[in-house]
Amino acid sequence: MGRLFVVSNRVAQPGDVQTGGLATALQTVLREQRGVWVGWSGSYGEGPPHVHIGEGIRYCTLDIPEPDFNAYYHHFANRTLWPLFHYRVDLVDYRREAYEGYRDVNRRFARALARELCADDVVWVHDYHLIPLAQEMRKLGFAQRIGFFLHIPMPSWDVLSMLPGHEELLGCLADYDLVGLQTDGDRENLRASLETIGRNGIRCELATFPIGIDANAVAQVAAAPVALSAAEELRASLSGKRLAVGVDRLDYSKGLPERFRAFARYLERKRAHREPLTYLQIAPATRTAVPEYQKLRKELEGLAGHINGTHARPDWTPIRYVNHSYPHSVLTGFYRAADLALVTPLRDGMNLVAKEYVASQDPSDPGVLVLSRMAGAADSLPEALLVNPHDMDEVASAIDTAVSMPAPERRRRWQAMMENLRRNDIKRWASDFLERLRGPATAPSARLDAAAPPKTALMLATRRT
Ligand code: UDP
Ligand code: G6P
Repeated sequence: MGRLFVVSNRVAQPGDVQTGGLATALQTVLREQRGVWVGWSGSYGEGPPHVHIGEGIRYCTLDIPEPDFNAYYHHFANRTLWPLFHYRVDLVDYRREAYEGYRDVNRRFARALARELCADDVVWVHDYHLIPLAQEMRKLGFAQRIGFFLHIPMPSWDVLSMLPGHEELLGCLADYDLVGLQTDGDRENLRASLETIGRNGIRCELATFPIGIDANAVAQVAAAPVALSAAEELRASLSGKRLAVGVDRLDYSKGLPERFRAFARYLERKRAHREPLTYLQIAPATRTAVPEYQKLRKELEGLAGHINGTHARPDWTPIRYVNHSYPHSVLTGFYRAADLALVTPLRDGMNLVAKEYVASQDPSDPGVLVLSRMAGAADSLPEALLVNPHDMDEVASAIDTAVSMPAPERRRRWQAMMENLRRNDIKRWASDFLERLRGPATAPSARLDAAAPPKTALMLATRRT
């Protein structure tokens, strides 16, 4: 069997503290599979890829010239595709030159892969930064199987079609053999969009693969000394008060201002109680060069200050707002110390924090997960307290319900969620995807057969561009 090449913009190098679901998940998969991880080196420049081995993973990373990286990552990926795919059409900033830069960088990745690939290798491309990569590889003559997984939501056609050049971009997905999505809703949105633009020709299979976590490993880390002492120190600092926790990159998709306001609503309702609940929000800054993220940071600083100023007492601060990032060894301790987690994104492909929170709990005294219906995770965790993140009153009520939930109900909900996480863990996610991708190879002549009918409702007939 050939080697596995995983390609993503963000690569987790040994020792990195990761603050994104993609890097967290792929690190686990690549260690298991002893594959090759291709991505951006983290530096600007030109030249051949850097190749090295670390913790069982072979890394092949690329420097990218700063102007190209600005167009590709800061602009087209993060100011055009990210808001569009998260239904924030109001924040979309489209520039044709940024799209051209995005295509150039995808060509660079294709050329770098060309130096490394053998005939029986498979390539698994990740996320919205690299949608055109298969097309660029096909242009260089690659017939290997290439899969794509989208970690973020796939919006409906009426949203997608607002993007200038959406037909060209969507058409690029037809050059993959398999496209994986987080939820059935995402898959159906893509199916409908590809049908609308009438792609037919080569066969591109669409399927749902909800990403999981290494639930047993997370549970072990959460019960290890580092996490337990982090949990103990945190609890000691609360002087007996209850704790809510949130852990999110400082991103507008995470619904942090709405969550802060919902927490304030809860505090207003509980005014008569002394020090009802402390809320710890870990929010590492991310994509700091992008203006929308700078604006959000200012907004949250103002909100946290306002809410604390209104509700704090000399010996109690309601919101502890922290912009540092923490490794899993510590984070799982914070999760375990918390009576409830607030995971209330306005849109999220999956949300691994929700799953990590569940897996970190003490089975005899688990906390409660308050989870947005707009996160992909809501499909697999229906036993969470599901909320609409736009509804402050509903979130405030869910906080109240979580704080007062009796232990037997907490245990019942937790057990159901934990079983699901163990069954559908990250290893299964990767093996399901890779088995399907490696599946029976399609002969090149069949791949070009425009008349071949779809095998199932999820097989789309698509034309190579
Ligand atoms: N994370 C981390 N340290 C932090 C904050 C977050 O390691 O200080 C990790 C978190 O544990 C999770 C990932 O970053 O594995 C976030 O993934 P998620 O799917 O929740 O959201 P994303 O950031 O991918 O949108
Ligand atoms: C989300 C995206 C990933 C991205 C991560 C962190 O998880 O799906 O592709 O890597 O956020 O964002 P960043 O821009 O720092 O890589």
